[in-house]
Amino acid sequence: MKNFDYYSPTRVIFGQGVIEKLPEVMDQFGPRILLTYGGGSIKRIGLYDKVKELLAGKEIIELSGIEPNPKYDPSVLEGVRLCKEHKIDVILSVGGGSVLDCSKAIAAGALYDGDPWDLITYKVKAKATLPIVDIMTLAATGSEYDAGGVISRTETNDKIGYIEPLNFPRVSFLDPTYTFTVNAKHTAAGVADAMNHVMEQYFCAEHNMVADGFCETLLKTLIHWAPVAIKEPHNYEARAEIMYACMYGCNGILALGNSQSGWPMHAIEHALSAYYDITHGEGLAIITPHWMRKILCDRTLERFVSLGVNVWGIDPKLPKQVIADKTIQATSDFFKSLGIPMTLREVGIDEKRLAEMAHHIREQFDFEGDNLYFPLPEPEILSILQSSLD
Ligand code: NZQ
Ligand code: ZN
Repeated sequence: MKNFDYYSPTRVIFGQGVIEKLPEVMDQFGPRILLTYGGGSIKRIGLYDKVKELLAGKEIIELSGIEPNPKYDPSVLEGVRLCKEHKIDVILSVGGGSVLDCSKAIAAGALYDGDPWDLITYKVKAKATLPIVDIMTLAATGSEYDAGGVISRTETNDKIGYIEPLNFPRVSFLDPTYTFTVNAKHTAAGVADAMNHVMEQYFCAEHNMVADGFCETLLKTLIHWAPVAIKEPHNYEARAEIMYACMYGCNGILALGNSQSGWPMHAIEHALSAYYDITHGEGLAIITPHWMRKILCDRTLERFVSLGVNVWGIDPKLPKQVIADKTIQATSDFFKSLGIPMTLREVGIDEKRLAEMAHHIREQFDFEGDNLYFPLPEPEILSILQSSLD
């Protein structure tokens, strides 16, 4: 087992009605709040009014319209400007992962004198960031329990994961009832994203039973409850189990003691959503089976067998290669059963820019280092993209 040094400072307040603690939580910070949110779902579910009611008396400045795959320009830049102009004390993010990710970039940029892009691209390390509190309305990314944020810059086709330990949310409110209104498309995409976070960490050379067990439990939970949540959007247990499982995706706990994997599917997907602004979880679901087929070999076979037997319930007496094939098929069939489009063409991506994307991915990520579970030179990335087309 590898050594590890683990720190996860976010206070998580989970369950129906926990929002009543919002005033007490916000009182720890100063009175000036930047309230960040997306395209209006929080108004439709009554959460906007509730937050305003609970925080009556505070000075609230708003940044709305944060899009899925949040954009540096205008959202991050506008948020930084508002924080500086109004001397904001704390950011309250209300929405999905996109709103929270954008808020994290704003939190860092607000206390930096230069161009916030310097921070996102690690040219400069943030010395301080504004505190962040979030109320999640969509279960998927795990942003509520991690230090990462993913920001897109349209003009350069960049979508960059910005990990800054100062950006762990101080407090995350997770009330599963706020996710009742998430439609089937985003429920499914959220589950596919969360499952992929687990698999990115499960497929590694050196692993341990604690990490494996944790990963397998999360996958089984998501596989069990996703169809229920899609069929019965107001089923509290389903939404709660999914929200709880999603929380663990990206804060490192699933990989403690493991060797690095490199998160290849995320690296590939981020290019897809940078170039075509597709839904992150859908891009991952499309890529996953093709990446799996690409990496299946003698060296990786046992990981597929563990996944197949322990998660998908495949008969352990079958030949290992058969188990591996069935595992890949089960993964693909499951995503399809949730209604996720399973080809690039279905989400509006054709062959035109595949080579350009493969090159872009290879330039941004070291896919050939010794540390990686399965090295992917540029032609292999391209071949995964090509096989995902139809
Ligand atoms: O904008 P609004 O009106 O709020 O609508 C949103 C949006 O259209 C809607 N929605 C959210 N809560 C809702 C709701 N609709 C009805 N009822 C509700 N309660 O859902 C749509 C998608 O929202 P978004 O925030 O984009 O989804 P998600 O939470 O999946 O976030 C995706 C972003 O997170 C990044 C992705 O790359 C993508 O940019 N990721 C962040 C990670 C992290 N910070 O750790 C890790 C992930 O791997 C991922 O890369
Ligand atoms: Zn993800």
